[in-house]
Amino acid sequence: MMIPFMVFGQQALFIPDTLSGSSLNLSLQNGEVEFFVGSMTQTIGYNQDIFGPTIILEKGNEVTINVSNNLTTNTTLHWHGLHVSSENDGGPHTIIPAGENWSPSFTVLDQAGTYWYHPHLHEKTEEQVTKGAAGFIIVKDDQELQLELPRTYGKDDFPIAIQSKAFGTDNQLLTNTALDNLILCNGILNAFLDVPAQVVRLRLLNGSTERVFNLGFQEDMMFYQIASDGGLLNNPVPLTRLRLVPGERAEVLLDLTSLQEESIELLSYGSELQNGIYGAERPSFMPFATIVEYEDNLLNGTDFKILNLNVGPPVLNPVTTIPSSLVNDEPFLERDANATRIITFRPKQMGPTSMVNGPFVMNGQSFDLDFINIEIPLNNTEVWHLVNMTAIAHPFHIHDVQFYILDINGATPPTNMQGRKDVVLVPPMGGTVRFITRFDDFADEVTPYMYHCHMLSHEDDGMMGQFIVTDQTTSTKNPADIQLPVYPNPVNDLLTVDLASPSAIQIYHSSGQLIEHRRSSNLVEKINMTDYISGVYFLNITNLKSSHIYKIVKN
Ligand code: C2O
Ligand code: CU
Repeated sequence: MMIPFMVFGQQALFIPDTLSGSSLNLSLQNGEVEFFVGSMTQTIGYNQDIFGPTIILEKGNEVTINVSNNLTTNTTLHWHGLHVSSENDGGPHTIIPAGENWSPSFTVLDQAGTYWYHPHLHEKTEEQVTKGAAGFIIVKDDQELQLELPRTYGKDDFPIAIQSKAFGTDNQLLTNTALDNLILCNGILNAFLDVPAQVVRLRLLNGSTERVFNLGFQEDMMFYQIASDGGLLNNPVPLTRLRLVPGERAEVLLDLTSLQEESIELLSYGSELQNGIYGAERPSFMPFATIVEYEDNLLNGTDFKILNLNVGPPVLNPVTTIPSSLVNDEPFLERDANATRIITFRPKQMGPTSMVNGPFVMNGQSFDLDFINIEIPLNNTEVWHLVNMTAIAHPFHIHDVQFYILDINGATPPTNMQGRKDVVLVPPMGGTVRFITRFDDFADEVTPYMYHCHMLSHEDDGMMGQFIVTDQTTSTKNPADIQLPVYPNPVNDLLTVDLASPSAIQIYHSSGQLIEHRRSSNLVEKINMTDYISGVYFLNITNLKSSHIYKIVKN
């Protein structure tokens, strides 16, 4: 294991500057930071050496963000969690070449909450985020303004991006490694934060490339989660632990009223994480399925410090109570769903190490920039059924929308996970998550949105797919030509599938189990379902251009 030669003492948490108004400028540039005495680490950041300013947006306002790429390599810039058109979303198709600019403009449609931005260049996301490219987005709205919550940025409302990073013997940042054994908060190693003796709000982001944190304060001090990824929860949820997976955000309130002059630690209780989660003692249940150097990383399976909070005098007009309720956000109802999609995670090739190291694929397909995996009719309300047939848990993220978790391994999610979400951890070894969401804006048949694992090395290795939202009323395809190619439905014995081109056909039981997988280059494929048990099945038909799912009932 590598030991950095000399670390500075504690340093104040860096509170990034804010950018607000209708036109903002971000410049991605090279930087350097003296993390270790007398030695410079090469980094990248937006408008600064590492990390970036906090973008403040107001719901309903128009904003233009001028992004300039001052690196000598390409990049993209994605607004993680924001509901924007696919052209403005900054996915892997929207490349900003070295030395060039990109200026998306959009209306802020999101609810008050904590979002973030980071590059999304295919196969380079992990490297660019690891080197420092990321920043916060805070959205404000009227509903949130009416609540008695701490909201003075940097005084009683603090953004805290937590990232584990690995440094080589030359003190340079390492990419694609499991040696991420040092914790940075907003780009600061070994940070402390001066906080006032009152109720404070912490906006927590796990910006790590892989590691899951199990956050808690010393002595199991109670705190209250008030927001998940996409905005406020209906009620504050009292917690002593908060598991935060890569890409996830949470806003919490902490009552420090009686703790003036004391110091309290924010820790990650890694010893309590279940095996099979990156950050637990072991990355899988299977003794052979491990990650190179994972066991050498002392953070795995142990409790470690994230940040010290030093409590000083209260600021003017302090908030001193935790509100009893927040908003009235209504989740979508499962009975309103008009489609179910099954997304199964598997290793690309079977084998004891690939079960935990990948590369991983979704529905058998590795990411391909030229392949649209899913077409979603505009205004669809859909249930996405994620099935993880690998040995490690994956944080699944979808662009464009916020979703509500229906169940995790069949059980109702904990209260703090019942609000608006855009990342969810899918448990390993056959684990399942079902969520419901709605695609009610931004039809675009050209630029797709992404869904992917937010462990950035998995994403870069192809654990990502893309979807387009299509408006049937403006689509260039004639709806009369669209005839269901799978019949009869319900079916008793022989199912006929009409195919336009050579395709792969997968049949899943509604439980998510893959029953049959075949490839066909016939124009008409007959499938004998006589021996199938009665129930609901999903047929996933994939050709070179797209993938469709059909629901069929076997009598
Ligand atoms: Cu945070 Cu597709 O990304
Ligand atoms: Cu993954």
